[in-house]
Amino acid sequence: VLFLEMLLYSLLFIFAFSFRSKSEPPLDRGLIPWLGHALEFGKDASKFLNRMKKKHGNIFTVRAAGRYVTVLLDPHSYDAVINDSDSLDFTRYAQVLMERIFNLRLPHHQPGVAKALMKRHFLGMNLATLNSTMCRYLQSLLKADMPQNRKDWKEEGLFDFSYSLLFKAGYLTLFGGEQNNNSTDPSSIYEEYKKFDGLLTKMARGTLKPEEKKTALSVRKRLWELLAPAGLTESSGSSPWLHDYRRLLQEEGTDEEMQRRAVLMQLWASQGNVGPAAFWLLGYLLTNPEALMAVKREFSQISQMETSETLPMDRPMNTPVFDSALEETLRLTAAPFITREVVQEKTLHMADGQEYRLRKGDRVCLFPFVSPQTDPEIYQEPQKYKYDRFLNEDGSVKKDFYKAGRWLKYYTMPWGAGTNGCVGKQFAINTIRQFVYMVLTNYDLELCDPNAQMPEINASRYGFGMLQPEGDLLFRYKPRNTH
Ligand code: HEM
Ligand SMILES: *[C@@H]1O[C@H](CO)[C@@H](O)[C@H](O)[C@H]1NC(C)=O
Ligand SMILES: *[C@@H]1O[C@H](CO)[C@@H](O)[C@H](O)[C@H]1NC(C)=O
Ligand SMILES: *[C@@H]1O[C@H](CO)[C@@H](O)[C@H](O)[C@H]1NC(C)=O
Ligand SMILES: *[C@@H]1O[C@H](CO)[C@@H](O)[C@H](O)[C@H]1NC(C)=O
Ligand SMILES: *[C@@H]1O[C@H](CO)[C@@H](O)[C@H](O)[C@H]1NC(C)=O
Repeated sequence: VLFLEMLLYSLLFIFAFSFRSKSEPPLDRGLIPWLGHALEFGKDASKFLNRMKKKHGNIFTVRAAGRYVTVLLDPHSYDAVINDSDSLDFTRYAQVLMERIFNLRLPHHQPGVAKALMKRHFLGMNLATLNSTMCRYLQSLLKADMPQNRKDWKEEGLFDFSYSLLFKAGYLTLFGGEQNNNSTDPSSIYEEYKKFDGLLTKMARGTLKPEEKKTALSVRKRLWELLAPAGLTESSGSSPWLHDYRRLLQEEGTDEEMQRRAVLMQLWASQGNVGPAAFWLLGYLLTNPEALMAVKREFSQISQMETSETLPMDRPMNTPVFDSALEETLRLTAAPFITREVVQEKTLHMADGQEYRLRKGDRVCLFPFVSPQTDPEIYQEPQKYKYDRFLNEDGSVKKDFYKAGRWLKYYTMPWGAGTNGCVGKQFAINTIRQFVYMVLTNYDLELCDPNAQMPEINASRYGFGMLQPEGDLLFRYKPRNTH
């Protein structure tokens, strides 16, 4: 039996390390047929890819659930992937996920048109309108949570607090205003959404257990119903963007059922990242007193010139310290995969002069979280939060980072890159800045346990945008004595 086992293992070994051909990236199939590395990948993608990187270097192909995925971890070579939309297709894999998570198929959809629409609404003059609507909702939700006349501390989990507040404000701004019914009240949407969010990674990977599947399908159905009126009529109180988006779907011949599914997808794209990002930022500030002081100092210089409790909305804000603190937060907690499908054979030219053949039908995946974002060759003590990492000595924005002695075009990539990068970036930054400003200037807040550390990262969410914590960070807050 022992002999057979050894034979089996050595066969598996040969099998696992066989190379497809010299010009192709090293192949690692994993020990389990078909499934390959899927389990380890899903459990903690960051740990897995770091392990593979140590073993194979900056480029390798792994087998996961029947697919071959070539992982590229050299940021100097990222442009070769991001740039080539002819051989490397973005939409196919996006469609697979759309179908798995949202049960959504849009056969006549023109992504280019939807994107142009999004840009029209989330940049320029329209952004200013969104800005001030968002600001109004943030203010009223905060006040409802914590009335000014209250004198005692209120204790809460920081993740819960940030996610629910920003979700509700974002939902009201984009999907439905005060005209909406009780049933579409933002708190109930948030409750359902959180359940959906918790199952989303498993839906994407197709690893739901039967019981979870039942929950996922019923929560999704409930969300479709709740979102049914959003953007449908001018009077639904939703944003002009959602209204235009609905109209575009109608023009493409999408029925109302499918439209609701598309609206849920937009809810996820627009609300799934902002709350978690604000949580990590506030958490890092509360656990790094020096960083908190620096951001507060910058904000107080602004508020000295203003009388209002919100930031001025009508002109560009100059907040380099805050911007650096946010950039540093995203460096440590934004972990999207950038995935493409190889639709025609391609030779990938790496920055170091190596060339690799990519097979049609394989996937290519960049994981900027491993490099550049937590790469010790680029950042000293990469796991450490340093709020001023993105500031020069003279206080200006630092954009010069190096790997292997060469200047890096991509030194952090929380928003993706290229034509498929995040359209909502500016709006998201404005929202988080406004939220943190309001909280820090109008409330006293502190950790319940002054020695508390940041919670661990939930390792199952690598690859899906902003990471989330395991557990929460308890804090308390009360209205500030302003005079
Ligand atoms: C901290 C907040 C946010 C982060 C970290 C973030 C991150 C990202 C990333 C990494 C992508 C690229 C995905 C890919 O390459 O497949 C993306 C795409 C996108 N984001 Fe964001 N996002 C944020 C907030 C927002 C907001 C507030 C909106 C909407 C108002 C938004 C709308 C979108 C849309 C529509 C896309 C898809 C672009 C496309 O398909 O080409 N995002 N986001
Ligand atoms: C592709 O990337 C290179 C840099 O690697 C850049 O110079 C070039 O302009 C890019 N091409 C396109 C079409 O974006
Ligand atoms: C409000 O709810 C009622 C019934 O629940 C529905 O008929 C009506 O269309 C809803 N109005 C809006 C604006 O969603
Ligand atoms: C909304 O809900 C509250 C509490 O559930 C209830 O008292 C109120 O009558 C409802 N309003 C409408 C318009 O349904
Ligand atoms: C981690 O995230 C997954 C997926 O969102 C969730 O099912 C799980 O409960 C989370 N674990 C903890 C400890 O929060
Ligand atoms: C939106 O508000 C932020 C402040 O939170 C400001 O920096 C930005 O310039 C505003 N954008 C527009 C277009 O008004």
